[in-house]
Amino acid sequence: MQIHRNYPLRAHNTFGFDVKALYYAAPSCLEALGELLAHPSYNAVPRLVMGGGSNLLFRKDFPGLVIHLQLRECAKIAEDETTVTLRAGAGVVWDDFVAHCVAHRWGGVENLSGIPGTVGASPVQNIGAYGVEVETAIKQVEALRIDDGQPVVFTHEACRFGYRDSVFKQAWKNKAVITHVVFELSKSPALVTHYGSMGEALEAFPGAGIEQVRQVILHTRRQKLPDPADLGNAGSFFKNPTLPKAQADELRAAYPQLPTYPVDDQLTKIPAAWLIEQCGWKGKRAGQVGVHTTQALVLVNYGGGTGNDVLQLAHAIQQSVRDKFNIQLDTEINIV
Ligand code: EPU
Repeated sequence: MQIHRNYPLRAHNTFGFDVKALYYAAPSCLEALGELLAHPSYNAVPRLVMGGGSNLLFRKDFPGLVIHLQLRECAKIAEDETTVTLRAGAGVVWDDFVAHCVAHRWGGVENLSGIPGTVGASPVQNIGAYGVEVETAIKQVEALRIDDGQPVVFTHEACRFGYRDSVFKQAWKNKAVITHVVFELSKSPALVTHYGSMGEALEAFPGAGIEQVRQVILHTRRQKLPDPADLGNAGSFFKNPTLPKAQADELRAAYPQLPTYPVDDQLTKIPAAWLIEQCGWKGKRAGQVGVHTTQALVLVNYGGGTGNDVLQLAHAIQQSVRDKFNIQLDTEINIV
């Protein structure tokens, strides 16, 4: 396996930042990955596992080894009357996996259509959209430990999934390379259509199934979210904040238009995009970076911007949301 030095990452991060990795390797089988992890030359440098680079912000060149896993197989490993179980390699493009499931009418991930990135990255931040989080379809996650290359299997419970969160962002951060994800999908899926105007959009398709759900979602995403191929971005930059219900009610009294999503009896989630828009940031540009014109939660690189430009803008946004609403916005993306 070739190990590149000073490897350009511009095509490998969806912000399109012009940064380099000191070392870069793209192992395409488990053995090659194991050898790489055991290789003494790279023990002393930081290691970063990359998927599609769609949730990453590089502040500068990466002074270590970037591992860009290519495991691309996807196999059916079990089936019964109601479900199929698929095991997909970490390097499978996420939306190819969704398209494959939808084509076979295996339901569970169709609401996650059109999300950039890879299968291996999907459990890390428990990707979610349109009322579904990937954890509902994940049975287990297989990985190799970074320090000794030994295999480790995470059951669904061991993944400790939360809103845009998992054990891979917490206790196991930078300690495991996810190699495969095992999904359980339904052969007679119930559609999840409660989010936003999805139910309404689907009324145009009598007898709709998961194919139509996928089409509606791909269409909605195209309307609102910039395609990283046209405009550098990493999707939502911040998480939607969860507030004590009393605080959200108070805010709602002051701003009756505020959309709120109850989490449980005690907590309410509110859209960060709304807070950012209220502070006047939507569509604002700061040099080569800015806030997207149709989704205020997305920060964009118009070309030639740097990670630090985006971070500076993000800090200014966080400050004004704190000043106006007394709410702290946490970043969703991974800052390297
Ligand atoms: N809104 C605004 N201004 C905007 C955009 C939205 O006020 O510029 C308000 C609207 O009232 C809207 C509400 O915010 O009803 C929610 O907006 P949207 O449906 O676009 O979703 P979101 O909460 O901003 C989340 C995810 C997205 C996911 C969408 C759709 C997070 C951090 N983001 O965004 O995920 O696609 O829901 O389900 O939870 C990502 O994680 O990278 C991502 C794009």
